[in-house]
Amino acid sequence: MKNHLCVTYQSENLHPLAEQLSSQHQLGCHADGKGSTDLALNFTEQYLELRDLTANTGIHVDFLAGALAHRRKYGGGRGQTLARAIGMKQGKPIPSVIDATAGLAKDAYVLATLGCPVTLIERSFAVAALVDDAIQRAAVDSDFNTLLTRGFKLVQDNAIEYLSRLTSDQQVDVIYLDPMYPERKKSSQVKKNMQILQKLLGQDMDTQDLLEQALKAARKRVVVKRPRGAETINSTQPTLCYESKNTRYDVYVITAI
Ligand SMILES: C[S@@+](CC[C@H](N)C(=O)[O-])C[C@H]1O[C@@H](n2cnc3c(N)ncnc32)[C@H](O)[C@@H]1O
Repeated sequence: MKNHLCVTYQSENLHPLAEQLSSQHQLGCHADGKGSTDLALNFTEQYLELRDLTANTGIHVDFLAGALAHRRKYGGGRGQTLARAIGMKQGKPIPSVIDATAGLAKDAYVLATLGCPVTLIERSFAVAALVDDAIQRAAVDSDFNTLLTRGFKLVQDNAIEYLSRLTSDQQVDVIYLDPMYPERKKSSQVKKNMQILQKLLGQDMDTQDLLEQALKAARKRVVVKRPRGAETINSTQPTLCYESKNTRYDVYVITAI
């Protein structure tokens, strides 16, 4: 991965930040987006972005504006399919969640805004850096701070290893998985995000191991997000499935919520 990636910065005052990140991960560091690689972690005045230097386009995470803020306001609350899949029910305690494939943290953020304490695990340091940058920027907002206080914690690690180290008092109710899968949705925004992520990460090849580890580590259920019509991750059939327009959630129940 490192051969494809360098660190760039938009203006000289961002140089020290760029240097720090690049030396931490032994990456090249260049001014003004002129990297020698396909992809760059690019410091702009507003945010850290993952920039595709060939396609001249970038992605960043923003919890307070754009699609995530819209989803939070109009996403359908506890009635939405994701909420039902993780077992949110009137009169039942709100489940705690480990999102073991955090990515750009969209699903984790939806779960957090529904009231779940969420631990986000992301193995790519570059993707984790984008989420961490968004958390730092959003921390000025009081509503976002409520989520942080309840639990919205990012850990950069391989979730298979992280879950294998969990002690029984660290277990959570739900482990959520959304591994990389060839993108088929038509929205150009989704395409842009997924194209850049796929260029950086490729496909996740150890998803079966991750599901097996999650089934050992979750207290109540494991929920796997799949494109609608896709095969299940392994031959174990899920206990329940919830479907929305383009997505299916395979639910492996361990004990009742
Ligand atoms: C499709 S993206 C997840 C998107 C995310 N649900 C969202 O809403 O933004 C999959 C992510 O899972 C991460 N991932 C896959 N396997 C992992 C593992 N074993 N441990 C930690 N992260 C993993 C990948 O690096 C990638 O960033």
